[in-house]
Amino acid sequence: MSVQTSESPFIFGRKAVGNSFTDRENETAKLVANFKNRVNTVLISPRRWGKSSLVKRAGDLSQSDSMKVIYIDAFSLRDATEFYTVLATEVIKGTSNTIETWIDHVKRFFSRLSPRFSFGSDPLNSFELSFELESMEKNYQEILDLPERIASEKGIMLVVCIDEFQDTANFNESALFHKRLRAAWQNHQSVTYCIYGSKQHMMSTLFEKQSMPFYKFGENIYLRKIPVNDWVLFIIQKFAQTGKKINESIAQAIAVAVKCHSYYVQQLSHLVWQRTLQEADDFVFTAALDDLLSQNDMLYQRETELLSDTQLNFLKAIASGIVSGFSNKETLLKFGLGSSANVNKIKKALVDKEFVEFNNNSAEFLDPAYELWFIRTIMKIKNRSEL
Ligand SMILES: Nc1ncnc2c1ncn2[C@@H]1O[C@H](COP(=O)(O)OP(=O)(O)OP(=O)(O)O)[C@@H](O)[C@H]1O
Ligand SMILES: [Mg+2]
Repeated sequence: MSVQTSESPFIFGRKAVGNSFTDRENETAKLVANFKNRVNTVLISPRRWGKSSLVKRAGDLSQSDSMKVIYIDAFSLRDATEFYTVLATEVIKGTSNTIETWIDHVKRFFSRLSPRFSFGSDPLNSFELSFELESMEKNYQEILDLPERIASEKGIMLVVCIDEFQDTANFNESALFHKRLRAAWQNHQSVTYCIYGSKQHMMSTLFEKQSMPFYKFGENIYLRKIPVNDWVLFIIQKFAQTGKKINESIAQAIAVAVKCHSYYVQQLSHLVWQRTLQEADDFVFTAALDDLLSQNDMLYQRETELLSDTQLNFLKAIASGIVSGFSNKETLLKFGLGSSANVNKIKKALVDKEFVEFNNNSAEFLDPAYELWFIRTIMKIKNRSEL
């Protein structure tokens, strides 16, 4: 492999921003309009298709003196108390930009709660609030209403974006927590909420089931994949910008190999780019794809070892092109899936473990790189065409 001096034009594992961000014009416009029109939005997609990047883009475009966008990531939060603390901190930080105003806001907008604030070595970025646990349990409402009170007093609009929302379902008494959110949010006039997350199944349950507190909370958007043609243009352009070439058919092969999954298209493009001196060829593409799979080999191996035999057989059936009708006698027998009652159990387990998802009743691997690895390593088939 050659040593590259210029920086890779492909990014993965971080939000796609600026000119690393491609396509999604309609979704961006839709979100921007929802923020402006105070329509709450629920954005759902499998892992790493581009939710966080999209919301960040729409948020950046919407940010102005009269509209402030704040972001909360529920991923690392353990309980409702942490959520309230982060919400309070981000709302205070996001609605003004001087330390004096923060302190003033803390004094003015809290009456029952008396938070302590602390500053780190870089006060502008490491401002934090903390609350007494007991007082927080009684007065959580004050924090939930904080965005609305600040926004209406300042005559601005606030957009509160909450990423990885599905993780709040792991909080203790999460149903009560969700009820409290919903009860407060439905009275807010100057705040719009944008909730997003993966774990399609759990997110849909939270937002679509009539018995759940978030039923008809706002507009539910299921993110689609970026289409092949857009990826092809993007890849060709990124190669060109760094003085390299790639033809349409190899650019297309990259997107198709990983089924247009945003993260993997960027990662595989990067691996091809890295190995390309002047112009990408088939040899480089094959080596890059092998590289992608071997990087994940250990992880995939470990995850696969945890599956039961019938779960493994079920994945083999999907990899062989079966997408529905798993309970047919013939399929049950051919793939060793046990009884049809067992099929339901297998489905549920594989969806919970995020191996598989069902779209319009048809089964698909959630991770296209894992699917390729599975076909090669477990089924011992080199190319999909041999299936
Ligand atoms: N619009 C886009 N244009 C180009 N690449 C993108 C785009 N959106 C996402 N990506 C690529 O996909 C990766 C994952 O994007 P992002 O983190 O936004 O997805 P996510 O759905 O929020 O993922 P997670 O489920 O892990 O939170 C990015 O690092 C980037 O490589
Ligand atoms: Mg994300």
